[in-house]
Amino acid sequence: MPTSDNVREKFLKFFKEKKHAIIPSASLIPENDPTVLFTTAGMHPLVPFLLGEQHPSGKRLANFQKCVRTVDIDEVGDRWHLTFFEMLGNWSLGDYFKKEAIEWSHEFLTKKKWLGFDSERIHVSCFEGDKDAPKDAEAAKVWQSLGIPSERIHFYSKKENWWGPAGQTGPCGPDTEMFYDTKKISHKGECGPWCSCGRFVEVWNDVFMQYNKTAEGKFIPLKQKNVDTGMGLERVAAVIDGLDSVFETDLMVGAFNKVKELGNQKLVEKNMNSVRIITDHLRAAAFILGDEVGIVPSNVDQGYVVRRLIRRSIRHARLVGIEGHFTSEVAGEVVKRFQGIYPELRKSRERIFSELDREEAKFLNTIHKGLSLAQKEISALEKEAKTVFPTKAAFDLYQSFGFPIEMTEEIVREKGFKLNKEDFFKKLAEHQELSRKATEKKFKGGLADTQSKTIRMHTATHLLHAALRKVLGEHVAQKGSNITTERLRFDFSHPEKVPEEKLREVEALVNEKVREGLSVKMEVMSPQQAKKDGAIGLFASKYGEKVKVYTVFDQKTGKFFSKEICGGPHVNNTKEVGKFRIVKEEGISAGVRRIKAVVE
Ligand code: SER
Repeated sequence: MPTSDNVREKFLKFFKEKKHAIIPSASLIPENDPTVLFTTAGMHPLVPFLLGEQHPSGKRLANFQKCVRTVDIDEVGDRWHLTFFEMLGNWSLGDYFKKEAIEWSHEFLTKKKWLGFDSERIHVSCFEGDKDAPKDAEAAKVWQSLGIPSERIHFYSKKENWWGPAGQTGPCGPDTEMFYDTKKISHKGECGPWCSCGRFVEVWNDVFMQYNKTAEGKFIPLKQKNVDTGMGLERVAAVIDGLDSVFETDLMVGAFNKVKELGNQKLVEKNMNSVRIITDHLRAAAFILGDEVGIVPSNVDQGYVVRRLIRRSIRHARLVGIEGHFTSEVAGEVVKRFQGIYPELRKSRERIFSELDREEAKFLNTIHKGLSLAQKEISALEKEAKTVFPTKAAFDLYQSFGFPIEMTEEIVREKGFKLNKEDFFKKLAEHQELSRKATEKKFKGGLADTQSKTIRMHTATHLLHAALRKVLGEHVAQKGSNITTERLRFDFSHPEKVPEEKLREVEALVNEKVREGLSVKMEVMSPQQAKKDGAIGLFASKYGEKVKVYTVFDQKTGKFFSKEICGGPHVNNTKEVGKFRIVKEEGISAGVRRIKAVVE
């Protein structure tokens, strides 16, 4: 069995023995979190539960979760950083705390039966304390009791030893990180887990989520003290197999070798960073395109990220001598490696390849011209001894040649010049109704948004779903949902344009249900029971053993209008939703329609 599959299996088995429920990997695209584009950690889909919502599977959970982080994108190209990665995690929702979490981490890492790492090679770090929270002596004490001497316990500041919130507000707390000393010493002088030489590989992070960060920047102790741990699967696999990079692990080597094989050998050796970027980016693109939600390359939100990943990999392909079409060939290796673990990749393999081919064809038409325009501008800067790349040229590259601004920035930076991104976004905003700035901000991570408007829109989405099924028919099924503070977006199956009068009928039905002031209740049950009770749900195969079902019903008659499997949260009474208005209906792909709506 490949190392990584073995680790995945052992991890789940270990935590099952410790009475954890194994929950499925959630979609890469967070549902109902308007402030973030991707699931960035295993804890992300669990935010409502970390804040006190009841989880249907109980208080001890574990899983493996597919994640995308774009915040580290500039570091990708080295031996350890990735845009897409898998995280193994275990959680305590107000159940066990530091002692058990650390003891179990140590047991799993060091016991022969599990990973069998030499305990002597493990270094750990703990939070040193500051004005917001005290030094984490408690965690350090547990480590000492396990035989980790103080020389191998390091104390760092919030920058290193604090995790969360996922965005600007939400659950967070001090963490303790575990590092494996590979003993591969490549330089003189001091070295430790803080050093970036690669000798110490961070393998696991136990976060003690005991605070809630408020919008005012205050850290309020949480009533429910949680544990959130995350272990990077690629890194652990590399350590176990004694490899020098995550790219050589069984998780990545297929795609990595394919890129090398397609390139020119000399250039491949010279530009290993580019080989790694191409491998990482196309793996991430395959997973994003392959997600159940149905993302396609575009100029906004997740579609923009995937476009950026594909186009950047095409540019780097030039640097290693790959010409012509290659992206779907590399993605083929990704699908082959992961379809057994993530069945959605098998299901959407054709879509992944065709979207890659289409995006590649589009960009191949313009990349040459764009690159020579960029070079011309750079030569002019050199001649005139200027330092800042003209915004107009960056804008032309974006608008006419399809160069994502981050790509132009990279090209400009490689030549030692600067680019004024602020200025670019200003210009873009002038040209577009939609400002990219909002999206930009979201790239940096999300925030746990439990604002009332979002919750109202979340319930409105359920009402809309039910109303569509009543007006258009039971073939209507949810294909995707996304909520921002401004609007809700709902994708559903329906073969043709929805006529205006039908849309108004749907809108009126939702508003009628709002006016009636129906109650909303939550129950926990098995997926089978939920189905029997007439609940509708999205990704039936992905549910855990227990699910939460939200029912919108009439207190007097007991009759329900909507019943859906869903994580919540929701309003208590539909009156809270407010006036509902459909603002747009359009087709997004064959047989899939999209509605945008607002609540006022
Ligand atoms: N949320 C923490 C991390 O991402 C632990 O899972 O590192």
